[in-house]
Amino acid sequence: MIIKRIELSNFRNYKELSLDFDKGTNIFYGDNAQGKTNILESIRLCSNAKSHRTNKDRELILFGEEEAHIKLFLEKKFSDYRIDVHLKSNRPKGIAVNGMPIRKISELLGILNVVFFSPEDLSLIKRGPSERRRFLDFELCQLNPLYTSSLASYHKALNQKNHLLKEVAFHPEWMDTLDSWDEQLERYAKDVILHRKNFLESLNEVILEIHKNLTSGKEQLEVLYEPNVLSSEIHTKLKSFRERELKQRISLVGPHRDDICFLINGMDIRKFGSQGQQRTAALSLKLAEIVLIKKQSDEYPILLLDDVMSELDSHRQLQLLNHVAHVQTMLTCTGLDDLESCNFPINKLFYVNSGEVICKKEQTSV
Ligand SMILES: Nc1ncnc2c1ncn2[C@@H]1O[C@H](COP(=O)(O)OP(=O)(O)OP(=O)(O)O)[C@@H](O)[C@H]1O
Ligand SMILES: [Mg+2]
Repeated sequence: MIIKRIELSNFRNYKELSLDFDKGTNIFYGDNAQGKTNILESIRLCSNAKSHRTNKDRELILFGEEEAHIKLFLEKKFSDYRIDVHLKSNRPKGIAVNGMPIRKISELLGILNVVFFSPEDLSLIKRGPSERRRFLDFELCQLNPLYTSSLASYHKALNQKNHLLKEVAFHPEWMDTLDSWDEQLERYAKDVILHRKNFLESLNEVILEIHKNLTSGKEQLEVLYEPNVLSSEIHTKLKSFRERELKQRISLVGPHRDDICFLINGMDIRKFGSQGQQRTAALSLKLAEIVLIKKQSDEYPILLLDDVMSELDSHRQLQLLNHVAHVQTMLTCTGLDDLESCNFPINKLFYVNSGEVICKKEQTSV
């Protein structure tokens, strides 16, 4: 898939902006705090209606304004799409696909697929389980709309149960409803666990080879699912943890406590990996996402690279380069030295300066 064009109005530090993209690599360079990441953020919003930096729509709207618009024009194999996101400071956002307002976010998912890679992603492996769950959820929601609805139902049941666990001491008559929330939780938990298990299986089918290439055959990377509870055991575990949950007033059993483990040649690199090993594994993960999305949808996703080139050594830069050959890429950087030193193709070059974007170079790619 290819993003042909994006139009922003009152989005972050852009009053009005229209950009036509090349189908190859589009580079945004400029000093810090000029608006480079804001452009990637607007693209990502059209993919899943969420910003990677905030949950508050108000922060996305140009200071002093009430509303912002993003219009994105996408070309896919079998049809073209126009995605409109309308952000409002005090009301929920409105989204339309091809001019038709959508009612649920799930109707948007899967239209625009992106793989987003930023310096924070490089530390995914050494960070806490909640970050790794966020990664799992983001990838799965893109790949599988059924997962999105299972996850939403699971979180709804979980929130209700947590609320009940907090309040039941003051309302002993509510105790009876706990069983019915556990039943709901169990039902949706089983779906979430199954989807996560299947996703990690398909990830492993592709990541081993990718990581081997990145490490010149030296390292075997395996990603293991570490569920908090197995589907077959959830019923019993919920019962046996009831006392403890009532005491701690929080839900202790279920996939909201899952993790994933990264093994290199059998060693858990969350704990024992060197920084370089953890970063290379994170890069493999991103490259594997590209392959998985292509496998599933028969289209390459859009690759959004936010300031990562300077974080990678020249060998990894080159590997990344090999993978971007067929993928429309939007890349931000402060200087062009890293790109030039590894001969990164620059099909279109934009200079970003305080909310203004100037096209410096255009090269029609074939
Ligand atoms: N809602 C908003 N309204 C106006 N300006 C905003 C808004 N939100 C952020 N900004 C401005 O956007 C700029 C940051 O943009 P962005 O994060 O895209 O920078 P960047 O070019 O990626 O910088 P860096 O190289 O440091 O990553 C800041 O100057 C900030 O003040
Ligand atoms: Mg930035």
